[in-house]
Amino acid sequence: MADLARRHAAVADAVESRVLAVLRSGRWIGGPVVEEAEAAMAHLFERDAAVGVASGTDAIILALQAAGVSAGDEVAVPALTFFATAGAVCAIGAVPRVVDVDARGLMCPSALAALDAPRLRVVLPVHLFGNRCTAHRIGVRTVDDAAQAVGCSPPASTGELTAVSTYPTKTLSSAGDGGFVVGDPAAIEKVRRLGSHGLVGPHVHARVEGHVGRNSRLDAVAAAVLLGQLPTLHDRIRRRQAIARHYDSCVSAACEPLPRDPGNPVPSYLVRAPDRARLAAHLEAHGIETTVYYPRPLTEQPALVGRIPPADCPVATRLCAELLAIPVHAGLSDDEVERVGRALESA
Ligand SMILES: Cc1ncc(COP(=O)(O)O)c(C=O)c1O
Repeated sequence: MADLARRHAAVADAVESRVLAVLRSGRWIGGPVVEEAEAAMAHLFERDAAVGVASGTDAIILALQAAGVSAGDEVAVPALTFFATAGAVCAIGAVPRVVDVDARGLMCPSALAALDAPRLRVVLPVHLFGNRCTAHRIGVRTVDDAAQAVGCSPPASTGELTAVSTYPTKTLSSAGDGGFVVGDPAAIEKVRRLGSHGLVGPHVHARVEGHVGRNSRLDAVAAAVLLGQLPTLHDRIRRRQAIARHYDSCVSAACEPLPRDPGNPVPSYLVRAPDRARLAAHLEAHGIETTVYYPRPLTEQPALVGRIPPADCPVATRLCAELLAIPVHAGLSDDEVERVGRALESA
């Protein structure tokens, strides 16, 4: 599904020279390399500012806190997403309110409109699998989860603050955990403070005022890895898009591709297969790895059952039973892509 060693080999010189320069500089926290990565991420999302943080999960937590969410508040989340979307809400004592999704797996606007949540403070749409989600509620702030949406065109940033992940399997990654929040400069400064314990003032032992924050910063070495990969990002996205189009042209009646927006950077390639187990077994027999994103809706996560208000999510439940992810990354050779295509044809 991902071959990170292959990805690194393609950019090794650029990444390794940047990492070595950081190590030799002695600026390992903050400094010009982190600032350069922040500027690059703001540019990718066409926003005015960005701050590097320790992970995509922390990016959501800090963005929610900066948007004024506190313990007991409710945050609307889609039923189909990686657990971290809801986990971040729980981490600050807020309550995830699960909303069903549409046929593309994105938070459904009519289900959001119908949500009865008296303490709803923020809507947290997820730009899942690189498709842009526009669900919002008038009068309620939006913080969006763009963990899977780096490289969308137009950019996936609909909220006042947008959380990004640079986890290694993401299209633009660090060599470990990492993330960003992008948005307007004043809100980003708030996030920056919260990610540095809540400290106010230039001195590291200055006072903490207002909110208590946490230690969540992007390391300079992580920023260097990301910057070393950046020049190839658009080529790698074009390659992913070409592979996805090839797969689209190959799929048999056993499955159908999950629709993609124009400009979707194809962070994953998903099909809907009514008999998913059979398709996965067929691909495995051809030596092709697959994975399931996501096996259960948030409403069926054991850690949440009984702790969050129940929600009816028939569309997400159906997608969880049918979606199958097929390898798509820029490191796949033409032969490998054709082999996957042939296996999809014969399924
Ligand atoms: C939709 C979504 N939200 C949040 C996250 C969390 O990001 P991280 O793993 O960087 O903490 C991920 C990561 O995979 C994700 O896919």
